[in-house]
Amino acid sequence: MKTKFPIHTTLSADAIKVLERYEKELGAKNVVLEKALLNLDNTRFKAKLDTQNIDRLIKRVDSGIPGLDDFLEGGYPKGFAVVVTGPPGTGKTTFSMQFLMEGVKNGERCIFFSFEERAQQLVQHFMRFGWDVGKYIDDGYLEIFGISMLTSEEMMEIIDSHKPDRVVFDSLNVISAPGDFRTSTSWRAVHRLLKKNLITSILVTEKSHGIDMKQFDEFDFLGDGIIFLDFIQTNDIDTTPMPVMSVQKMRATKVDHTPQPFRFTNTGIAKYRALSNPSQILQDKIAKRRSERLSHVSSDEV
Ligand SMILES: Nc1ncnc2c1ncn2[C@@H]1O[C@H](COP(=O)(O)OP(=O)(O)OP(=O)(O)O)[C@@H](O)[C@H]1O
Ligand SMILES: [Mg+2]
Repeated sequence: MKTKFPIHTTLSADAIKVLERYEKELGAKNVVLEKALLNLDNTRFKAKLDTQNIDRLIKRVDSGIPGLDDFLEGGYPKGFAVVVTGPPGTGKTTFSMQFLMEGVKNGERCIFFSFEERAQQLVQHFMRFGWDVGKYIDDGYLEIFGISMLTSEEMMEIIDSHKPDRVVFDSLNVISAPGDFRTSTSWRAVHRLLKKNLITSILVTEKSHGIDMKQFDEFDFLGDGIIFLDFIQTNDIDTTPMPVMSVQKMRATKVDHTPQPFRFTNTGIAKYRALSNPSQILQDKIAKRRSERLSHVSSDEV
């Protein structure tokens, strides 16, 4: 059936009810009232964003990893959630704690939520690098929650009361499958709290494949940045694989994606300088590993 007056699709249901009532009484379309209601509705959905006072300069946070900040225009953008990912034993936990140690050294407050290691085991691990973890815990700068069974509400309470600048979650795979995580309302609440308070965070995630596989999961899309850690065998004679890191993405940043070698030292993760052109060697090795894997897959398919 044809309606007497046009349908006002851009108005809310309540506004349409008001408009229809007056139009029925007047027996004609009420353009003035419709305009007024539209204006009211527009302001209802406008975000309170003060574009005049947005700081154009993105503040950067030191990663704590020697050399890495040079590939990121000076560090992680403040308030970003950075996914640190890779296969088992590639240094994800060490990398993340070193990020917190950089913070506490500068008087920032930090929290480490581990979902798979005991706090004592973590502290022992970190103390081997000479990091004075106990002192920072005693002084109130650092909180470590081991084998955490905390709910998202409890984590939010802790974040609210400790007011950290940096937080690590190690690892998200323990809390949820990648597919469910990004859309879970409880995680979105944590994520929102971190963003609201400009807390820079590391989200550790696990990969069952190396850097040569171009495969991403839902965690990778959720993060503002992705740093992939892996081991690459660079030398056919010396079979010891070399740890490498590669920045796969960092929003709002001009990124140098070339993989960089690093090493574990007595003081934590350090830059590796022994190769004359490490990036080229690593890129060649990664490409080789990828083509070997692809030819392996296609021969399996025959
Ligand atoms: N004090 C140390 N000196 C040298 N290397 C170390 C030291 N402590 C740990 N490592 C190396 O660091 C790597 C593991 O570090 P880490 O626990 O950070 O990795 P991870 O990626 O978090 O592992 P997982 O996947 O099991 O959680 C290992 O390869 C280990 O040999
Ligand atoms: Mg770990």
